[in-house]
Amino acid sequence: MTAEAAQPQQPLLRVRDLKIRIQMDNGVMNAVDGVDFEIRRGRTLGLVGESGCGKSLTSRALIGINPKECETSGTIAYTSSQEPEAKGEPLNLLALNPNGRKIRSIRGRKIAMIFQEPMTAFSPMYTIGNQIMEAILIHRTRNKKEAKRIALEMLGKVGISDQEKRFDQYPHEFSGGMRQRAMISMALSCNPELLIADEPTTALDVTIQAQVLELMKRLQREFGMAILLVTHDLGVIAEMCDEVAVMYLGKIVEQAPMKDIFRNPKHPYTKGLLRSMPRLGGSKAKRLESIEGSVPIPVNMPPMCGFYDRCKDRIEGVCNARSVPATRISDSHTVRCFLYSEQPGGQQR
Ligand SMILES: Nc1ncnc2c1ncn2[C@@H]1O[C@H](COP(=O)(O)OP(=O)(O)OP(=O)(O)O)[C@@H](O)[C@H]1O
Ligand SMILES: [Mg+2]
Repeated sequence: MTAEAAQPQQPLLRVRDLKIRIQMDNGVMNAVDGVDFEIRRGRTLGLVGESGCGKSLTSRALIGINPKECETSGTIAYTSSQEPEAKGEPLNLLALNPNGRKIRSIRGRKIAMIFQEPMTAFSPMYTIGNQIMEAILIHRTRNKKEAKRIALEMLGKVGISDQEKRFDQYPHEFSGGMRQRAMISMALSCNPELLIADEPTTALDVTIQAQVLELMKRLQREFGMAILLVTHDLGVIAEMCDEVAVMYLGKIVEQAPMKDIFRNPKHPYTKGLLRSMPRLGGSKAKRLESIEGSVPIPVNMPPMCGFYDRCKDRIEGVCNARSVPATRISDSHTVRCFLYSEQPGGQQR
């Protein structure tokens, strides 16, 4: 098979055994501990889990922007359809120099990222328009007039009216929702193959949140980009995603197409997250459950299930005795839980 013929089957990004270790005063923290996932072209993968489970570290690792103390290993195989010289061969992004030319030509251009707090993406010193234009000048064209035209067009696409006036305003002159839109327009101005969105709507009120999600979906249809959507909100996942990876304490504990996660969840943690999700039109009498306990800090963790202490279905002597392998429920559904494991001590259900 030729490289071109093989390419459509290749996911855009294939992450294997991603580990991020951070040396702490009291030991080593395995903040991301052997994560595997794939992002397919034009599709949306949701990465969901409670605060502190390693979602942001994982997503920032994809473009090499974690701080120096994060010791990262594994492979991030990126198969671009925009890289003729690569001829469909994957490029391991983790093997690239994080400050080198190659990753800088990918970061922002082919893989763009938007953050929870748009103030961090914009400098207060320059106008919004200048900052969007600068990204375009670095990656797309050297012609300033053309760059300004693209920037104005992008501001229009994200629903910002009066673009000429807005172009010359500073970030503090924009409302939160407008800054979020401006950040999306900056991220999309270079027509990336992958958009990483880390809690893109958490800071926004509910109506604006719905508008921004709708906007991302529309732009995805228009530009055909893939999205990695990081959130702790299952409502956002249901609205946006094709596939879902549920993360807990540095590991992906369940991974499946979105519908299977909602209709046929397996991991006790996924089930807990679903029970704690508010539902429109749900019975008023039924109180929302929260998952008892909190996410522990994974410093010097023994090999065991990280959810053990909080799990109602735990099997003593099994779940706290060794690390949990991934079990395949179907071709597209995997779970990391001894209740489904064929390993000795595990149960098959
Ligand atoms: N530079 C760092 N130094 C030390 N610890 C860190 C560093 N960055 C992240 N951590 C820790 O690693 C763990 C995972 O962090 P991460 O930011 O990826 O979580 P998250 O899932 O994105 O959480 P949230 O939903 O709150 O954004 C947390 O316990 C966090 O405190
Ligand atoms: Mg985060």
